[in-house]
Amino acid sequence: MKVLLTGAAGQLGRELARVLPEEGREVVPFSHAELDVADCPAVEAALEEHAPELVINAAAYTNVDGCETERELAYRVNALGPRNLAQLCERRGIELLHVSTNYVFDGTSESPYEPFDPPNPLSVYGRTKLAGEEYVMRLCRRWYVVRSAGVYGEGHNFVRTMLRAAGEGRSLKVKDDEYISPTYARDLAGAIAEIVSRGLYGLYHATNSGSCSWYDFAREIFTLAGIEADLSPIKSSEYPLPAARPANGVLSSPDGPAMRHWREALSDYLSREL
Ligand SMILES: NC(=O)c1ccc[n+]([C@@H]2O[C@H](COP(=O)([O-])OP(=O)(O)OC[C@H]3O[C@@H](n4cnc5c(N)ncnc54)[C@H](OP(=O)(O)O)[C@@H]3O)[C@@H](O)[C@H]2O)c1
Repeated sequence: MKVLLTGAAGQLGRELARVLPEEGREVVPFSHAELDVADCPAVEAALEEHAPELVINAAAYTNVDGCETERELAYRVNALGPRNLAQLCERRGIELLHVSTNYVFDGTSESPYEPFDPPNPLSVYGRTKLAGEEYVMRLCRRWYVVRSAGVYGEGHNFVRTMLRAAGEGRSLKVKDDEYISPTYARDLAGAIAEIVSRGLYGLYHATNSGSCSWYDFAREIFTLAGIEADLSPIKSSEYPLPAARPANGVLSSPDGPAMRHWREALSDYLSREL
């Protein structure tokens, strides 16, 4: 199966470009510089030239706080990009897998969010990502939407930020009232490969299993890395950011792929990083 991959230089894109060929799939990767998903004629030309059977959209504008001020750019990339892909894939009979986020939820639930729970995003990022999902679900028939959370891999992410800050000897205050399931991009890529190979279209949640606060996550990073960091917990109300985040950002999926515990995945990641 030939797969056209957008956002191929991002954290998830890099892992997909590695994992999918191992599963016997031919991947045609496009970085942002090579293909802007918001540029409809360019997307059409890429589909025409490569004639893939599946498109995986790992492209997104992921700067959550940046989206609050760069609203048009956020909408172009996170909503109009998937709309272009959905319309063009439908016209050509191509399957589309689109990646989305736990930030489509408001985080007020007491339990992990299931795919059928009603979304209610708190931020521009969440709203534009939700609009992107909806375009995909409405404009093409053969779709997969895979939501994840707290993704780290080769790129700008929380794990690298923590390690860098501790290395600079900074004291760190990290929120202990916001929960997620941290997810290694390599594991997410494996889960996506599994979802695609099942061929069952629909909406999935895919994260490493278990959950923790960002503070617990930071503590585990330093424990596993053997670093004595000056780390203390803080409440989100004491640490205002431009974009509101869901307090409960934990996802679960009754029929999603089974994924290992976040601690095991983090340990694996750190053994490659350090
Ligand atoms: N990171 C997380 O914690 C997280 C959590 C939940 C869900 N997700 C979702 O997971 C997916 C992958 O995220 P990630 O962590 O891999 O993010 P990432 O590392 O920021 O990768 C996103 C990639 O998309 C590219 N991009 C931006 N605008 C584009 C455009 N107009 N056309 C084509 N490519 C464009 C970026 O390139 P430039 O950097 O060069 O602009 C970047 O390489 C996204 O859908 C994201 O919403 C991420």
